[in-house]
Amino acid sequence: MADSLAVTGDLRTEPWRRAVETVPREAFIPSFFRPVDGPGETLWAPVTTELVAGAELLQLVYSDATWVTQLDRRLTPEQTDLPIAGVPTSSSTMPGLVVRMLEELGVEDGSKVLEIGTGTGYSTALLSERLAGAAVTSVEFDPEVAGRAGRALRSTGFDPTLVVGDGIDGHAAGAPYDRVVATCSVRHIPTAWIDQTRAGGSILTTLTGWLDASAGLVRVEVFEGGSAEGRFLGTTDSFMPARPHDRPPLPDDLFDWLSDSPVEERVTSVGPDVLDQAVDWTAAFVAQLAVPGCQPLGISEDDGPMVNYLIDAELEAFAALIPQSDGSWRVRTAGRVDLWARVESKLAAWDALGRPSLDSFRLDITATAQTVRLSDSVGSEFAALPLGT
Ligand SMILES: C[S@@+](CC[C@H](N)C(=O)[O-])C[C@H]1O[C@@H](n2cnc3c(N)ncnc32)[C@H](O)[C@@H]1O
Repeated sequence: MADSLAVTGDLRTEPWRRAVETVPREAFIPSFFRPVDGPGETLWAPVTTELVAGAELLQLVYSDATWVTQLDRRLTPEQTDLPIAGVPTSSSTMPGLVVRMLEELGVEDGSKVLEIGTGTGYSTALLSERLAGAAVTSVEFDPEVAGRAGRALRSTGFDPTLVVGDGIDGHAAGAPYDRVVATCSVRHIPTAWIDQTRAGGSILTTLTGWLDASAGLVRVEVFEGGSAEGRFLGTTDSFMPARPHDRPPLPDDLFDWLSDSPVEERVTSVGPDVLDQAVDWTAAFVAQLAVPGCQPLGISEDDGPMVNYLIDAELEAFAALIPQSDGSWRVRTAGRVDLWARVESKLAAWDALGRPSLDSFRLDITATAQTVRLSDSVGSEFAALPLGT
Protein backbone atom coordinates (compact mmCIF):
# COMPACT_ATOMS: atom_id res chain seq x y z
CA MET A 1 0.00 0.00 0.00
CA ALA A 2 2.86 2.39 0.81
CA ASP A 3 4.33 1.79 -2.65
CA SER A 4 1.05 2.47 -4.42
CA LEU A 5 0.37 5.60 -2.32
CA ALA A 6 3.83 6.84 -3.31
CA VAL A 7 3.00 6.23 -6.98
CA THR A 8 -0.24 8.23 -6.73
CA GLY A 9 1.74 11.03 -5.05
CA ASP A 10 -0.32 10.94 -1.86
CA LEU A 11 2.62 9.65 0.18
CA ARG A 12 5.58 11.95 -0.32
CA THR A 13 7.96 11.91 2.63
CA GLU A 14 9.96 9.31 4.49
CA PRO A 15 8.49 9.83 8.01
CA TRP A 16 4.93 9.28 6.76
CA ARG A 17 6.08 6.31 4.70
CA ARG A 18 7.49 4.75 7.88
CA ALA A 19 4.17 5.42 9.62
CA VAL A 20 2.16 3.77 6.80
CA GLU A 21 4.51 0.78 6.83
CA THR A 22 4.31 0.43 10.61
CA VAL A 23 0.60 0.84 11.40
CA PRO A 24 -1.40 -2.34 10.67
CA ARG A 25 -4.68 -1.11 9.15
CA GLU A 26 -6.37 -4.46 9.81
CA ALA A 27 -6.22 -3.78 13.56
CA PHE A 28 -8.45 -0.71 13.01
CA ILE A 29 -10.93 -2.29 10.60
CA PRO A 30 -11.35 -5.91 11.71
CA SER A 31 -14.79 -5.67 10.07
CA PHE A 32 -16.52 -3.17 7.82
CA PHE A 33 -19.22 -2.69 5.19
CA ARG A 34 -18.66 -2.65 1.46
CA PRO A 35 -21.11 -1.08 -0.98
CA VAL A 36 -23.08 -3.45 -3.19
CA ASP A 37 -23.43 -2.47 -6.85
CA GLY A 38 -26.98 -2.22 -8.06
CA PRO A 39 -29.77 0.14 -9.00
CA GLY A 40 -31.44 2.39 -6.46
CA GLU A 41 -30.42 2.91 -2.86
CA THR A 42 -26.90 1.74 -1.91
CA LEU A 43 -26.86 -1.44 0.14
CA TRP A 44 -23.96 -2.29 2.44
CA ALA A 45 -22.66 -5.85 2.74
CA PRO A 46 -20.87 -6.83 5.95
CA VAL A 47 -17.23 -7.91 5.65
CA THR A 48 -16.21 -9.85 8.75
CA THR A 49 -13.78 -12.68 9.47
CA GLU A 50 -16.80 -15.04 9.62
CA LEU A 51 -18.08 -14.04 6.17
CA VAL A 52 -14.94 -13.33 4.14
CA ALA A 53 -11.73 -15.37 3.85
CA GLY A 54 -8.65 -13.91 5.51
CA ALA A 55 -6.64 -13.30 2.34
CA GLU A 56 -9.51 -11.47 0.63
CA LEU A 57 -10.18 -9.42 3.74
CA LEU A 58 -6.53 -8.35 3.96
CA GLN A 59 -6.53 -7.42 0.30
CA LEU A 60 -9.53 -5.15 0.89
CA VAL A 61 -7.96 -3.68 4.04
CA TYR A 62 -4.79 -2.73 2.15
CA SER A 63 -6.57 -1.21 -0.84
CA ASP A 64 -6.92 2.56 -1.15
CA ALA A 65 -10.59 2.53 -0.24
CA THR A 66 -12.83 4.07 2.37
CA TRP A 67 -14.45 1.32 4.43
CA VAL A 68 -17.63 2.19 6.25
CA THR A 69 -17.71 0.90 9.83
CA GLN A 70 -21.03 2.27 11.11
CA LEU A 71 -24.43 3.00 9.53
CA ASP A 72 -27.18 5.22 10.90
CA ARG A 73 -25.11 6.05 14.00
CA ARG A 74 -25.56 2.54 15.45
CA LEU A 75 -25.22 -0.42 13.05
CA THR A 76 -21.95 -2.34 12.89
CA PRO A 77 -21.05 -5.15 10.44
CA GLU A 78 -21.40 -7.79 13.19
CA GLN A 79 -25.11 -7.01 13.47
CA THR A 80 -26.08 -8.39 10.06
CA ASP A 81 -25.23 -11.24 7.70
CA LEU A 82 -27.06 -9.64 4.79
CA PRO A 83 -26.58 -6.37 2.88
CA ILE A 84 -28.53 -3.55 4.51
CA ALA A 85 -29.47 0.04 3.69
CA GLY A 86 -28.24 2.93 5.80
CA VAL A 87 -26.35 6.20 5.92
CA PRO A 88 -22.61 5.87 6.66
CA THR A 89 -21.82 7.59 9.96
CA SER A 90 -18.28 6.34 10.64
CA SER A 91 -15.56 4.93 8.45
CA SER A 92 -11.88 4.42 7.88
CA THR A 93 -11.17 7.03 5.23
CA MET A 94 -9.23 5.94 2.14
CA PRO A 95 -5.55 5.85 3.11
CA GLY A 96 -4.55 7.99 0.11
CA LEU A 97 -6.65 10.89 1.38
CA VAL A 98 -5.59 10.37 5.02
CA VAL A 99 -1.91 10.36 4.09
CA ARG A 100 -2.21 13.29 1.69
CA MET A 101 -3.85 15.34 4.44
CA LEU A 102 -1.15 14.34 6.90
CA GLU A 103 1.50 15.40 4.39
CA GLU A 104 -0.37 18.70 3.85
CA LEU A 105 -0.55 19.24 7.60
CA GLY A 106 3.17 20.02 7.59
CA VAL A 107 4.02 18.63 11.03
CA GLU A 108 7.54 18.56 12.41
CA ASP A 109 9.09 16.45 15.15
CA GLY A 110 7.58 17.71 18.39
CA SER A 111 4.41 19.18 16.82
CA LYS A 112 1.26 18.93 18.95
CA VAL A 113 -1.77 17.90 16.90
CA LEU A 114 -5.50 17.93 17.59
CA GLU A 115 -7.49 15.56 15.38
CA ILE A 116 -11.27 15.81 15.09
CA GLY A 117 -13.02 12.54 14.16
CA THR A 118 -11.06 9.58 15.58
CA GLY A 119 -13.27 7.11 13.70
CA THR A 120 -11.49 3.76 13.60
CA GLY A 121 -8.31 5.32 15.01
CA TYR A 122 -6.25 4.54 11.89
CA SER A 123 -5.28 8.15 11.16
CA THR A 124 -4.73 8.69 14.91
CA ALA A 125 -2.29 5.76 14.85
CA LEU A 126 -0.40 7.23 11.87
CA LEU A 127 -0.11 10.54 13.74
CA SER A 128 0.96 8.76 16.93
CA GLU A 129 3.60 6.75 15.07
CA ARG A 130 4.95 9.93 13.44
CA LEU A 131 4.85 12.21 16.51
CA ALA A 132 4.71 9.95 19.57
CA GLY A 133 1.37 9.47 21.30
CA ALA A 134 1.75 12.25 23.87
CA ALA A 135 1.71 14.86 21.10
CA VAL A 136 -1.60 13.64 19.64
CA THR A 137 -5.10 14.37 20.90
CA SER A 138 -8.08 12.96 19.02
CA VAL A 139 -11.77 13.70 19.63
CA GLU A 140 -14.62 11.38 18.63
CA PHE A 141 -18.30 12.22 19.02
CA ASP A 142 -19.63 8.67 19.21
CA PRO A 143 -18.71 6.84 22.46
CA GLU A 144 -18.93 3.35 20.92
CA VAL A 145 -16.81 4.32 17.92
CA ALA A 146 -14.32 5.95 20.32
CA GLY A 147 -14.26 2.81 22.49
CA ARG A 148 -13.40 0.57 19.52
CA ALA A 149 -10.70 3.00 18.35
CA GLY A 150 -9.21 3.15 21.86
CA ARG A 151 -8.97 -0.64 22.05
CA ALA A 152 -7.37 -0.86 18.59
CA LEU A 153 -4.86 1.88 19.44
CA ARG A 154 -3.88 0.25 22.73
CA SER A 155 -3.59 -3.20 21.12
CA THR A 156 -1.15 -1.80 18.56
CA GLY A 157 0.91 0.01 21.20
CA PHE A 158 -0.20 3.62 20.61
CA ASP A 159 -1.13 5.95 23.43
CA PRO A 160 -2.63 9.24 22.16
CA THR A 161 -5.01 11.30 24.30
CA LEU A 162 -8.50 10.19 23.29
CA VAL A 163 -11.48 12.39 24.06
CA VAL A 164 -15.13 11.45 23.67
CA GLY A 165 -17.10 14.58 22.91
CA ASP A 166 -18.04 17.18 20.37
CA GLY A 167 -14.93 18.00 18.40
CA ILE A 168 -16.49 21.31 17.37
CA ASP A 169 -15.42 22.44 20.87
CA GLY A 170 -11.87 21.18 20.29
CA HIS A 171 -10.15 20.09 23.49
CA ALA A 172 -9.08 23.14 25.48
CA ALA A 173 -7.23 21.10 28.11
CA GLY A 174 -4.52 20.16 25.61
CA ALA A 175 -4.21 23.57 23.90
CA PRO A 176 -2.36 25.27 22.32
CA TYR A 177 -1.91 22.96 19.34
CA ASP A 178 0.47 23.42 16.43
CA ARG A 179 -1.96 21.76 14.03
CA VAL A 180 -5.67 20.93 13.94
CA VAL A 181 -6.89 18.39 11.39
CA ALA A 182 -10.49 17.30 10.88
CA THR A 183 -11.60 14.07 9.23
CA CYS A 184 -15.21 15.21 9.29
CA SER A 185 -16.42 18.32 7.45
CA VAL A 186 -17.71 21.58 8.88
CA ARG A 187 -19.80 24.52 7.60
CA HIS A 188 -17.35 27.06 8.96
CA ILE A 189 -14.20 26.74 11.04
CA PRO A 190 -15.25 26.50 14.68
CA THR A 191 -14.00 29.34 16.88
CA ALA A 192 -12.64 26.84 19.43
CA TRP A 193 -10.23 25.42 16.84
CA ILE A 194 -8.85 28.90 16.15
CA ASP A 195 -8.63 29.76 19.85
CA GLN A 196 -6.82 26.50 20.59
CA THR A 197 -4.24 26.82 17.77
CA ARG A 198 -1.06 28.72 18.56
CA ALA A 199 -0.24 31.79 16.46
CA GLY A 200 1.64 30.49 13.43
CA GLY A 201 -0.09 27.11 13.66
CA SER A 202 -2.61 25.87 11.12
CA ILE A 203 -5.95 24.16 10.66
CA LEU A 204 -6.73 21.71 7.85
CA THR A 205 -10.34 20.75 7.21
CA THR A 206 -13.01 20.32 4.55
CA LEU A 207 -15.76 22.93 4.40
CA THR A 208 -19.13 21.96 3.04
CA GLY A 209 -22.80 22.87 3.15
CA TRP A 210 -26.03 20.98 3.53
CA LEU A 211 -26.60 20.32 -0.19
CA ASP A 212 -23.90 17.61 -0.34
CA ALA A 213 -22.84 19.44 -3.50
CA SER A 214 -19.07 19.43 -3.02
CA ALA A 215 -16.55 20.29 -0.34
CA GLY A 216 -13.39 22.39 -0.25
CA LEU A 217 -10.28 21.24 1.57
CA VAL A 218 -8.78 24.36 3.12
CA ARG A 219 -5.72 25.10 5.23
CA VAL A 220 -5.65 28.31 7.23
CA GLU A 221 -2.84 29.78 9.27
CA VAL A 222 -3.83 31.27 12.60
CA PHE A 223 -2.54 34.69 13.64
CA GLU A 224 -2.16 36.49 16.95
CA GLY A 225 -5.55 37.85 18.05
CA GLY A 226 -7.60 35.02 16.54
CA SER A 227 -7.70 35.88 12.86
CA ALA A 228 -6.76 33.27 10.27
CA GLU A 229 -6.42 32.94 6.52
CA GLY A 230 -5.46 30.41 3.92
CA ARG A 231 -6.08 28.76 0.58
CA PHE A 232 -8.38 26.05 -0.63
CA LEU A 233 -6.13 23.25 -1.86
CA GLY A 234 -8.16 22.56 -4.99
CA THR A 235 -8.65 18.84 -4.44
CA THR A 236 -11.92 16.94 -4.81
CA ASP A 237 -12.09 15.55 -1.28
CA SER A 238 -15.02 15.21 1.02
CA PHE A 239 -15.79 13.80 4.45
CA MET A 240 -18.95 12.98 6.34
CA PRO A 241 -20.29 16.05 8.16
CA ALA A 242 -19.37 16.77 11.76
CA ARG A 243 -22.49 15.84 13.67
CA PRO A 244 -23.59 19.23 15.00
CA HIS A 245 -22.84 20.78 11.60
CA ASP A 246 -24.96 18.18 9.80
CA ARG A 247 -28.27 19.27 8.34
CA PRO A 248 -31.16 19.59 10.76
CA PRO A 249 -34.41 17.64 10.26
CA LEU A 250 -36.79 19.20 7.74
CA PRO A 251 -39.95 20.83 9.17
CA ASP A 252 -42.72 18.39 10.24
CA ASP A 253 -45.28 20.19 8.11
CA LEU A 254 -42.95 20.16 5.09
CA PHE A 255 -45.38 18.77 2.52
CA ASP A 256 -48.21 21.15 3.54
CA TRP A 257 -45.76 24.03 3.40
CA LEU A 258 -44.51 23.02 -0.07
CA SER A 259 -48.00 22.58 -1.47
CA ASP A 260 -49.72 25.55 0.23
CA SER A 261 -47.09 28.27 -0.32
CA PRO A 262 -47.74 30.88 -3.02
CA VAL A 263 -45.14 30.32 -5.73
CA GLU A 264 -43.69 32.17 -8.67
CA GLU A 265 -42.58 30.23 -11.70
CA ARG A 266 -40.10 31.19 -14.39
CA VAL A 267 -37.69 29.77 -16.94
CA THR A 268 -34.10 29.19 -15.85
CA SER A 269 -31.02 28.42 -17.87
CA VAL A 270 -29.39 26.83 -14.80
CA GLY A 271 -30.48 23.26 -14.13
CA PRO A 272 -29.88 21.20 -10.99
CA ASP A 273 -26.77 19.63 -12.60
CA VAL A 274 -24.81 22.57 -11.21
CA LEU A 275 -25.17 20.97 -7.80
CA ASP A 276 -23.68 17.70 -9.02
CA GLN A 277 -20.02 17.40 -8.00
CA ALA A 278 -19.51 14.72 -10.67
CA VAL A 279 -20.40 17.27 -13.38
CA ASP A 280 -18.16 20.10 -12.11
CA TRP A 281 -16.76 20.06 -8.56
CA THR A 282 -16.02 23.80 -8.44
CA ALA A 283 -19.38 24.83 -9.94
CA ALA A 284 -21.10 22.74 -7.27
CA PHE A 285 -18.90 24.35 -4.60
CA VAL A 286 -19.81 27.82 -5.87
CA ALA A 287 -23.54 26.99 -6.08
CA GLN A 288 -23.42 25.65 -2.54
CA LEU A 289 -21.79 28.88 -1.31
CA ALA A 290 -24.80 30.79 -2.65
CA VAL A 291 -27.32 28.88 -0.54
CA PRO A 292 -25.47 27.51 2.50
CA GLY A 293 -28.64 26.88 4.49
CA CYS A 294 -30.39 24.82 1.80
CA GLN A 295 -31.10 21.12 1.91
CA PRO A 296 -31.92 19.02 -1.15
CA LEU A 297 -35.01 16.88 -1.60
CA GLY A 298 -36.10 14.97 -4.69
CA ILE A 299 -39.84 14.51 -5.11
CA SER A 300 -41.55 12.75 -7.95
CA GLU A 301 -44.94 14.49 -8.23
CA ASP A 302 -47.88 12.33 -9.43
CA ASP A 303 -45.39 9.72 -10.71
CA GLY A 304 -43.97 12.39 -13.02
CA PRO A 305 -40.28 13.20 -13.43
CA MET A 306 -38.16 13.98 -10.39
CA VAL A 307 -38.46 17.56 -9.16
CA ASN A 308 -35.37 18.80 -7.31
CA TYR A 309 -36.23 20.94 -4.30
CA LEU A 310 -33.87 23.20 -2.38
CA ILE A 311 -35.29 23.97 1.03
CA ASP A 312 -34.10 26.63 3.43
CA ALA A 313 -36.21 26.23 6.57
CA GLU A 314 -34.56 29.17 8.34
CA LEU A 315 -35.25 31.57 5.47
CA GLU A 316 -38.69 29.96 5.01
CA ALA A 317 -38.00 29.64 1.30
CA PHE A 318 -37.77 26.92 -1.28
CA ALA A 319 -37.02 26.48 -4.96
CA ALA A 320 -38.21 23.57 -7.12
CA LEU A 321 -36.55 22.73 -10.43
CA ILE A 322 -38.98 21.21 -12.86
CA PRO A 323 -37.66 19.39 -15.93
CA GLN A 324 -39.39 20.19 -19.23
CA SER A 325 -39.92 17.68 -22.02
CA ASP A 326 -37.52 19.63 -24.29
CA GLY A 327 -34.65 19.32 -21.78
CA SER A 328 -35.00 22.87 -20.40
CA TRP A 329 -35.88 23.81 -16.81
CA ARG A 330 -38.45 25.92 -15.06
CA VAL A 331 -38.03 26.98 -11.47
CA ARG A 332 -40.79 27.55 -8.93
CA THR A 333 -39.76 29.68 -5.98
CA ALA A 334 -41.50 30.53 -2.73
CA GLY A 335 -40.66 32.53 0.37
CA ARG A 336 -38.84 35.66 1.33
CA VAL A 337 -35.91 35.12 -1.02
CA ASP A 338 -35.52 33.61 -4.47
CA LEU A 339 -33.02 30.88 -3.59
CA TRP A 340 -32.41 29.87 -7.19
CA ALA A 341 -31.70 33.48 -8.17
CA ARG A 342 -28.91 33.41 -5.57
CA VAL A 343 -27.44 30.31 -7.22
CA GLU A 344 -27.81 31.83 -10.69
CA SER A 345 -26.11 35.07 -9.73
CA LYS A 346 -23.23 33.45 -7.82
CA LEU A 347 -22.57 31.15 -10.79
CA ALA A 348 -22.80 34.09 -13.20
CA ALA A 349 -20.23 36.02 -11.12
CA TRP A 350 -17.92 32.99 -11.16
CA ASP A 351 -18.45 32.57 -14.92
CA ALA A 352 -17.67 36.25 -15.53
CA LEU A 353 -14.35 35.79 -13.73
CA GLY A 354 -13.44 32.94 -16.10
CA ARG A 355 -14.59 30.07 -13.89
CA PRO A 356 -11.57 30.13 -11.54
CA SER A 357 -10.55 26.78 -10.09
CA LEU A 358 -11.08 25.82 -6.47
CA ASP A 359 -7.46 26.57 -5.55
CA SER A 360 -8.04 30.22 -6.57
CA PHE A 361 -10.33 30.64 -3.57
CA ARG A 362 -9.18 31.55 -0.10
CA LEU A 363 -10.75 31.86 3.30
CA ASP A 364 -10.35 34.89 5.56
CA ILE A 365 -11.38 34.59 9.19
CA THR A 366 -11.90 37.42 11.67
CA ALA A 367 -13.61 37.38 15.05
CA THR A 368 -16.95 38.13 13.42
CA ALA A 369 -16.89 36.68 9.90
CA GLN A 370 -15.56 33.90 7.69
CA THR A 371 -15.34 35.01 4.10
CA VAL A 372 -14.50 33.13 0.92
CA ARG A 373 -12.56 35.36 -1.48
CA LEU A 374 -10.86 34.90 -4.82
CA SER A 375 -7.08 35.16 -4.46
CA ASP A 376 -6.48 37.34 -7.48
CA SER A 377 -9.21 39.84 -6.69
CA VAL A 378 -8.25 40.17 -3.06
CA GLY A 379 -10.71 42.85 -2.09
CA SER A 380 -13.74 41.10 -3.46
CA GLU A 381 -15.77 39.01 -1.10
CA PHE A 382 -17.16 36.01 -2.90
CA ALA A 383 -19.32 34.52 -0.17
CA ALA A 384 -19.80 34.66 3.56
CA LEU A 385 -19.98 31.38 5.44
CA PRO A 386 -22.83 30.85 7.85
CA LEU A 387 -21.52 31.17 11.39
CA GLY A 388 -23.15 29.92 14.57
CA THR A 389 -23.10 26.49 16.09
C1 LIG B 1 -14.57 9.67 8.28
S1 LIG B 1 -14.66 9.21 9.93
C2 LIG B 1 -13.03 9.42 10.54
C3 LIG B 1 -11.98 8.61 9.92
C4 LIG B 1 -10.81 8.37 10.83
N1 LIG B 1 -9.99 9.51 11.00
C5 LIG B 1 -10.07 7.12 10.43
O1 LIG B 1 -8.92 7.20 10.01
O2 LIG B 1 -10.65 6.06 10.59
C6 LIG B 1 -15.44 10.62 10.65
C7 LIG B 1 -15.64 10.47 12.14
O3 LIG B 1 -15.97 11.74 12.65
C8 LIG B 1 -16.81 11.53 13.76
N2 LIG B 1 -17.46 12.80 14.08
C9 LIG B 1 -18.55 13.37 13.50
N3 LIG B 1 -18.83 14.53 14.09
C10 LIG B 1 -17.91 14.70 15.07
C11 LIG B 1 -17.68 15.71 16.03
N4 LIG B 1 -18.46 16.79 16.11
N5 LIG B 1 -16.66 15.57 16.90
C12 LIG B 1 -15.85 14.48 16.84
N6 LIG B 1 -16.02 13.48 15.95
C13 LIG B 1 -17.03 13.60 15.07
C14 LIG B 1 -17.75 10.44 13.28
O4 LIG B 1 -18.40 9.81 14.36
C15 LIG B 1 -16.78 9.54 12.53
O5 LIG B 1 -16.31 8.52 13.35
